[in-house]
Amino acid sequence: MKNVILLGPPGAGKGTQADLICELCDIPKISTGDMLREAVASGSDLGNKVSYILDTGGLVSDEIIGALIQDRLLKPDCGNGALFDGVPRTIGQAQQLSQMGISFTHVIEIFVEDKEIVNRMSGRRVHPGSGRNYHLLYNPPQIKSADDITGEPLVQREDDKPETVLKRLEVYHDQTKPLTDFYRSLSEKNSLKFFQVDGSKSVEEVFKNISKEI
Ligand code: AP5
Repeated sequence: MKNVILLGPPGAGKGTQADLICELCDIPKISTGDMLREAVASGSDLGNKVSYILDTGGLVSDEIIGALIQDRLLKPDCGNGALFDGVPRTIGQAQQLSQMGISFTHVIEIFVEDKEIVNRMSGRRVHPGSGRNYHLLYNPPQIKSADDITGEPLVQREDDKPETVLKRLEVYHDQTKPLTDFYRSLSEKNSLKFFQVDGSKSVEEVFKNISKEI
């Protein structure tokens, strides 16, 4: 059983590494970012409620995130554990997850300097259907502007505009970064393994370093 949390700033490579880790450990990915974007694309009540928050780089409320996770955990594919990509994002969410009785085995923090992140975001392209992501320079698709698996067109995320990226970074430092100390201190008291990896290295190298620890 592996329940893994991926922490890190926007654009650190959480989504990219999450797909690789899920394949390695045979666990599903729980990405609140993907779930919220799906809700927006479907035009649901939830989607309409959160659309502006996503586009402007704020955080969706802990209540909404808690309900999303609780629903998601009811699906049978989480029997072997799960990879939590981009959640928790606040101390309040971490407390909610703990109250749900999830016992985390690993917390991985991917760290990257802010200036590198702004550069990365401008080159990111995503496949809306699956959440698979690419980078025009560092992780290009096999065929320009098309998803490797389905051949469908890739798009640029609305929140990847430079001014929104700066706002997301500010929110990250203010509300999410405190989770580093939160989980480091938990790991000193129980069997949870907390470790950090340098996300400025290549996708392959970052994954190699994570694989060694996991
Ligand atoms: P979310 O989708 O989770 O976005 P994020 O955390 O800001 O992270 P990103 O998806 O932008 O980046 P990533 O770290 O996954 O990097 P990636 O692998 O794509 O959340 C979006 C929004 O939803 C939030 O702003 C918030 O509004 C809301 N939300 C979501 N969860 C929430 C929660 N729990 N609570 C409240 N609100 C929530 O990589 C980035 C780019 O770099 C790609 O192009 C990639 O190809 C490239 N790349 C990856 N690795 C490397 C590498 N090693 N070298 C070079 N390039 C690389």
